This record gives sequence, C-alpha cells and structure tokens, in this order.
Amino acid sequence: MSTDTPMGAADTRAQARALSAAAAMAGHAPSIHNTQPWRWRLTGNELNLRLDHSRALDVTDRDSRLAILSCGAALHHALVGLAADGWHTDVARMPDPAYPDHLARLSLDRRIPVSLEARRHRQTIGLRHTDRRPTAAAPVDADNLYAVVAAAESAGTGLHLLHPDQVYGLARDADQAQRAENEDIAWQAELAYWTGGSRPLGSGIPDAAIPDHTTRATVPDRDFGHHGDLPVTGAPGNAATFAILYGPADDEANWLRTGEALSAAWLTATELGLSVLPLSATIEVTVTRERIRLLLAGLGHPHLVLRISAGDPAGSAAARAPRLAAAQVIERGWNGRHT
Ligand SMILES: Cc1cc2nc3c(=O)[nH]c(=O)nc-3n(C[C@H](O)[C@H](O)[C@H](O)COP(=O)(O)O)c2cc1C
Repeated sequence: MSTDTPMGAADTRAQARALSAAAAMAGHAPSIHNTQPWRWRLTGNELNLRLDHSRALDVTDRDSRLAILSCGAALHHALVGLAADGWHTDVARMPDPAYPDHLARLSLDRRIPVSLEARRHRQTIGLRHTDRRPTAAAPVDADNLYAVVAAAESAGTGLHLLHPDQVYGLARDADQAQRAENEDIAWQAELAYWTGGSRPLGSGIPDAAIPDHTTRATVPDRDFGHHGDLPVTGAPGNAATFAILYGPADDEANWLRTGEALSAAWLTATELGLSVLPLSATIEVTVTRERIRLLLAGLGHPHLVLRISAGDPAGSAAARAPRLAAAQVIERGWNGRHT
C-alpha cells in the first residue's frame, strides 16, 4: 500500500515555503572556483533553475560545462532538501530545447515519507567542503569506495575508479593541463579574479581554503598562482584514489546529470569520513580531456576527475568558502519569459 499522500489546495503555501527553502539549501553546493553560476526563479508552485552566464568562466570554461555541472550539484542539493522535507519532486531537466540555459523545472506533486538517507544527506550538506590539503597515508577502504561509486550511479552517472597503473597517465595530463593554463594570460587573470584579492563578495576561493605551501603529489592539484593561509602539517601520505565521473555524451544534459552525481557521491563520501577534491584542469583543456577519455576505454565521456582520500581524522576542517546571499540567486515570481 502506498503511504504517499495526494495534495490538497491547502498545501500551496507549504509548497512555496519548501521550494524556497530548497533553493536556499542549494546555495551550499560546490561550484567551479565557487562561482555559484546558478539562478533560481520561484513562482507559487514551481522552481526553475537557470545557468547564470554572468558568473560563468569565459576563459577557463568556454562551453560552460563546469558551470552546468556546478548547477547540477545545486539541483541535487535542492532535491535532497525537498526529499528531507517529505516532498516528492517532479523534475523536468532541460525542459525547453529553445532555451538551453533553462536547466530544470521542479514542481512538487505529492507528500512522501521521509527516508533516513534524505535526513542524513540534508545534514551533510552543511558539513561538506573542499579540502585541498595533501592526502593521508592510509588508503581508502574498498567498500567505502564502492559506496561512493553506487551513490554516483544512483544519480545517473558513472564513476570510474582508476587502476594504480593509470594514475601516472593522469599525472602527466594534469601537469600538461596546468602548464597550458599557466601560459595563458587571460586564464591567469580569470583565476586571479576568482581566487585572488579581487574575488567578488560572497564568492571565489578564500586564502583560508588554499594551502600555505606546495607539496609534491603524484597528481598535481590546482596551482592557484599563490599560497594561501591553510596550514599544511605533517608529511603528505599520497594515498588517494583517483576517479573519473563520466557520461554517455558530452552535452549540457549530461553535464547537468554529472553535477547531480557529484553531489550524491560527495555527500556519501563525507558521511563515510572521506575527502573529495575535484580536479578539473584536465577537463578544461581539450587535448588533455581527449587523453582522459582514453583512460575510460570506451566507457563514455569524461566530465570531472576526483581525488578521493581518507578525511582528516582530527576533523580539523579546512576553512569554508563564502556564499552569495539567497536574494542574489533567488528571484520570486516569474513572468514566463526567458529573458
Ligand atoms: C565542477 C567543479 C570543478 C572544480 N574544480 C576544482 C579544482 O580543479 N581544484 C580545486 O581545488 N577545487 C575544485 N573545485 C572545488 C571548488 O573550488 C569548491 O567547490 C568551491 O570553492 C566551493 O567550496 P566548498 O566545496 O568548500 O563549498 C571544483 C568544484 C566543481 C563543482
């Protein structure tokens, strides 16, 4: 027997409150350089997600793949919030082919029982963060890795764990991508804007989340062009698993799905005490993205590389990146036009 409850007219105000809370919760989502390139439009019973080009990276992310992926993570955060509130959500992804920036339309169709997983995920949204410190010496337990893979797959995207032999290829590609970007003056200026002293209020990566010195790692992580204030203590252990989020095609709809899977995998990893660090440089540069595709051996198109490692057992969290105020990303009322 279904325990779902059909909706009555009296639910309209509750729907509006739930959708508003979900859009606010989505603000915690990870995004490339913490650009938060999403815009929500809320009407009484509908929440619409759009890509905000004014906060996308014109140089680093010309076709907006990483911006859309970030929006997918925000979408998943919103859906977690609604499920934890006891709502079943009807989601139309890419609802209007004439407006590819319109990424999703959400409406609430009925009440559902709240699962423990939804409650746990909602709590984890406030705890998840990016930790750029070197990895610990202890490898990640295989069962935990498979739980992270299952979480990504449940959101509709594959997560391929690289065999240790493949990591050297990834390291070479990451190094090449970083060098290509470092030689590009426009790229440097964009990175400095979002991660240096001029970062716009409420966005960008603060120095407190950037390590205070560089350590040698098999696969180099993002070179921010300057050291931050995040203390790095102890010898790096270099015990990480590298993985590739991939999809069946390289287009907007699949980048959105992969963003949802990134959120699902990262929340599960956080609950298991693991750290996830996205490494997107190899995806940003076309030639290295093509080589990363070879590592997938026909599985699909690479969308994002992840470093998965044991979290800091002391729980000493790396500093949080700031967020835009809800009023800057949520519009109320909509005239139905896309402009
Ligand atoms: C698509 C995508 C790509 C990212 N690429 C990188 C990266 O290459 N290096 C890095 O240090 N962080 C990367 N991040 C992490 C973001 O910088 C981080 O999510 C953002 O600053 C917000 O901080 P938080 O995750 O701590 O909330 C990426 C995140 C996303 C969603």
